[in-house]
Amino acid sequence: MTDLLRFTTAGSVDDGKSTLIGRLLYDSKAIYEDQLEAVQRASALRGDDEVDLSLLTDGLRAEREQKITIDVAYRYFSTPQRKFIIADTPGHIQYTRNMVTGASTAELAIILIDARKGVLTQSKRHGFLATLLRIPHLVVAINKMDLVDYDRGVYERITADYAEFVRQLNVQGVTTIPLSALRGDNVVDKSPHMPWYDGPTLLHHLEHVNVGASQNVVDFRFPVQYVIRPNQDFRGFAGQIVSGRIAVGEEVVALPSGLTSQIKEIVTADGALPSAEVGSAVTLTLADEIDISRGDMLVRARNLPQKSNQLDAIICWMSEEPLRPNGTYWVQHTTRLVKGLVSELNYRIDVDTMHREQAETLNLNDIGRVQLTTTQPLFFDRYELNRATGCFILIDPHTNTTVAAGMIRGQSRTVDELTADQRPTSAPRQSSNIVWEQTGISHAEREARHGHGAAVLWFTGLSGSGKSTIARKLEQTLFARGIHTFFLDGDNLRHGLNGDLGFSEADRVENIRRAAEVAKLAYAHGQLVLCSFISPFAADRAFARQILPEGRFVEIYVKCDLEVLKRRDPKGLYAKALSGEIPEFTGISSPYEEPTTAELVVETDLESVDDIIGRILAYLTTHHLLPNP
Ligand code: ADX
Repeated sequence: MTDLLRFTTAGSVDDGKSTLIGRLLYDSKAIYEDQLEAVQRASALRGDDEVDLSLLTDGLRAEREQKITIDVAYRYFSTPQRKFIIADTPGHIQYTRNMVTGASTAELAIILIDARKGVLTQSKRHGFLATLLRIPHLVVAINKMDLVDYDRGVYERITADYAEFVRQLNVQGVTTIPLSALRGDNVVDKSPHMPWYDGPTLLHHLEHVNVGASQNVVDFRFPVQYVIRPNQDFRGFAGQIVSGRIAVGEEVVALPSGLTSQIKEIVTADGALPSAEVGSAVTLTLADEIDISRGDMLVRARNLPQKSNQLDAIICWMSEEPLRPNGTYWVQHTTRLVKGLVSELNYRIDVDTMHREQAETLNLNDIGRVQLTTTQPLFFDRYELNRATGCFILIDPHTNTTVAAGMIRGQSRTVDELTADQRPTSAPRQSSNIVWEQTGISHAEREARHGHGAAVLWFTGLSGSGKSTIARKLEQTLFARGIHTFFLDGDNLRHGLNGDLGFSEADRVENIRRAAEVAKLAYAHGQLVLCSFISPFAADRAFARQILPEGRFVEIYVKCDLEVLKRRDPKGLYAKALSGEIPEFTGISSPYEEPTTAELVVETDLESVDDIIGRILAYLTTHHLLPNP
């Protein structure tokens, strides 16, 4: 278990956020004596008989009055169990902004709810934002329990209300804790007033929650912050490894130039290192003199980010000045600053109902889906895969203030592109008299029982590329670990359910539609579904992706050189296809559209099956679909 937890708090002044943080620091004895005395004096001056703990945090507000883009102060404290970093934001009503700016590296968010007020729109907004930001753990702190006589009914009602809302969000773990920050109940010490609550105190939960798994340790990304050149003999690139790891001797590519070199040294304040990983601030030197400047990014040749100047994103508007559609903004993405504009506002999300509504602009605290166009391409990853290279902020060029924070969903697609062909966008329903029958067991309950996430792993690739071999072996491994799996194989489905289908384009579309729908049903039952289909058309794979919640469809492109496949030809099908015996054979006489959106690309002519399975397992663990082994 890592000994560091970064967390953020969401709530306005009235919810008692400052008092809560103050209480945490005070009761865990994490504050300095002189600070405490100052606060005691200030409280006495005000004539308060109790120490006003909010002064502990509010007193430091001035330090945040910086005219720079992100106004968040970090507060550190530690207990014998763990170190903590609180991304603390002014207890100001602009809660959205506070949360977004403080949350990009947080692994836990505390959402404060006033027990007297219950679940408000803003409490929902916080929860929704936390999920957009992919903060893995949510704590709902039901504060001011003292003001409702520590009533169990109030706690249970709010818990149920919030659970009802959270169901729509598809989050994993939500912990609800009844407390009184003012009185100290259940913050650090167990409350004597709520014997009916047998859960952890807030601090106990913070000390024991499992963290670290949300970091992307796979994809090496190093945005260059500074080029350091003290003399002719030394040229280093300083920055932070925002994901993945790197070692001396490994090959890297500089983006955007595409030039390659090897890592010569990894220099830190404490000397040179053989390797370094996510979170480390380092200076890298390369074996070759290649041209690199601030804003460039070093990555691995075989693991590149996406590149585009057209992005599909969710943004949270954080300025009193509404969004100017088609107006120019600075886009700060990693260490890179480019100009850009919101070329399309697709919709605004009503956080009370989760409905998407048409909108002309976005106002303070609004959340919307937009298409962003930048003057130069960005090298990015989807936010769900990489929080560092998947986020950006928009800065008003006139005032230099941050006006929005955004999370990249992928490359832009126009509505036309999405519906270009006649492929289904949802399953056809023959009669409107059919309604969906609920099972009575929630998805979250199923996942909790199974102890792992449900998802669809979609293996796509040419016939003979190794999809089924990998899927079969992976399933055995998962099965041995007690994971609930469900395996759907193209050849097998064509024996029964899809026995009426051939290999014409229309039949393949239908083949994949049925397969995807079956996979979705198994997913709904909490299974980890492995699907092995050639699925040659991008639109059909997009359909399968789209009927599942975000993050639950993992496309794995099983890549293999066609020449190798023709040579291997285990089923003798390529020979037959080449001689014309099998018409419409994928790769020979029928097209295969290579995935561009795959979460993983594995190459069976270059990597061993075991290595590939290792990578897939690592991916599933990093993305919280599997527990740590
Ligand atoms: S898909 O194109 O509709 O996704 P699917 O994965 O179900 O195909 O089935 C592919 C399997 O069917 C291949 O592994 C191969 O064994 C067999 N097959 C028979 N005819 C063809 C063909 N014309 N093209 C591709 N595969 C074929």
